[in-house]
Amino acid sequence: MSDPTSRPRRGQKLEVPIVELDERGRGVARVGRWSLVARGALPGSRVRLEVLRGRGARHEARVLEVLEPSPDGGPAHCPHLRHCGGCAFQELAYPAQLRALRGAVEALVDPLGLGVPVEEVAGMQRPFAYRNKMEYTFGTRRFREDPSERGAPADFALGLHVPGRHEKVIDVQHCAIHFEGADELLAGMRDLCLERGLSAWDNRRHTGLLRYLVLRHGFRTGETLVNLVTSAEAEEEVDALAAAFLERHPQVTTFVHSVQSRPAATSQAEHQRVLHGSGRIHERVGQLLYGISAGSFFQTNTLQAERLFAAIAEEARVAGGTLYDLYCGAGTIGLALAAEAGLVRGFEVVPSAVRDARANARENGIENAEFIEGDVLASLAREGGAGSPDVVIVDPPRAGLEARMIPALARLGAPRLIYVSCNVAAAAGDLPYLRAAGYRLERVRPFDLFPHTPHVEVIFTLVK
Ligand SMILES: C[S@@+](CC[C@H](N)C(=O)[O-])C[C@H]1O[C@@H](n2cnc3c(N)ncnc32)[C@H](O)[C@@H]1O
Repeated sequence: MSDPTSRPRRGQKLEVPIVELDERGRGVARVGRWSLVARGALPGSRVRLEVLRGRGARHEARVLEVLEPSPDGGPAHCPHLRHCGGCAFQELAYPAQLRALRGAVEALVDPLGLGVPVEEVAGMQRPFAYRNKMEYTFGTRRFREDPSERGAPADFALGLHVPGRHEKVIDVQHCAIHFEGADELLAGMRDLCLERGLSAWDNRRHTGLLRYLVLRHGFRTGETLVNLVTSAEAEEEVDALAAAFLERHPQVTTFVHSVQSRPAATSQAEHQRVLHGSGRIHERVGQLLYGISAGSFFQTNTLQAERLFAAIAEEARVAGGTLYDLYCGAGTIGLALAAEAGLVRGFEVVPSAVRDARANARENGIENAEFIEGDVLASLAREGGAGSPDVVIVDPPRAGLEARMIPALARLGAPRLIYVSCNVAAAAGDLPYLRAAGYRLERVRPFDLFPHTPHVEVIFTLVK
């Protein structure tokens, strides 16, 4: 049993109740003033933990045994759940996941004392097979999930990294959250690469050809994009592989080959060739059809993106005014609101996303939207505050807003500011500064765009 007065020691075994989830979806137990966090430990359960390591008041632990299961526990839908870091709490019943996500947002927003309640998290009816994009990694060190298994080659894997062991790759056979049909594409690519003796990228030695397999799918259009990222041109091998793959999987509408020779772990390409189709797929969200190319950001959960965009439209109340869509990606949010706006101006740094945004406006017959390519701060500074938008939407990348964006937003001075965030901690950190810049928080609406993960998307509505 645990002694609440002594600090947990490495190797110590404790029997404790799990009281909540942390921001990474790990179960938390309290021992005196210390917390123990363990992957896969569900709130409401009682477990035997082994302390692994500690820093300050928080210690990492692993579950040795579940003594009493959580009343909120449910069946897992994934064979890789124990080792893959993707779905931190798939075994927690979905309503309990939504409660935990809301609690996590409250823990960040309530202490700010802004007097605005965090609303219920808008969840999915069927929270599986929801991702329209997955990025799989090739690796030379296959993670053995079952130590007794025999047969599969140890030096080739296509799947996902094991958290904390970046050189190891789980050979994913089934994923419960990627789009239906992606399992077959993954297996087909793996089989063909092995048949042809093509080498996987070794992320320690920086050798080998195959680096990433990115799959994208339009839920509403049925179109599928395959982007194979390699470390070198190797046109002959790649062309033959693509031809064989397309023959086996004729449902694939476009095949892109990207080259990324630098060691950095990113699927962003130095250059690209389109081997089949147009190099883009389309997805319908709400009334609009969006074109998406291999390198552009697009919301990964089509069904929830639709609800998110509808809620953003409600909050923005554009009513014929000028809307700035900062960090606009392929223009999705601004274009969704264009029918209600006098003018939409999107700002985005990735050139292919800007090209997609312009094409999306054109293909949807939208004439009141323009897109400005470049760093958003530099673009706004160049304009010297011109434009005076009625509504500004900011949807920054995970890292959050740069500090200099707060004064830039203050200078724009829009009466309504809609801050869309996938990193609530970063956004919550900005709220006091936005209050100092004259913005009052009006609503906090969380959306579950990433079921079974600790990530949550939040719309913060701010008014001047
Ligand atoms: C979270 S995504 C939002 C995209 C879009 N609002 C949507 O919903 O599809 C963030 C976008 O910000 C862009 N971005 C990142 N840093 C930027 C910067 N400094 N200036 C302009 N855009 C940037 C990224 O390329 C990405 O498209």
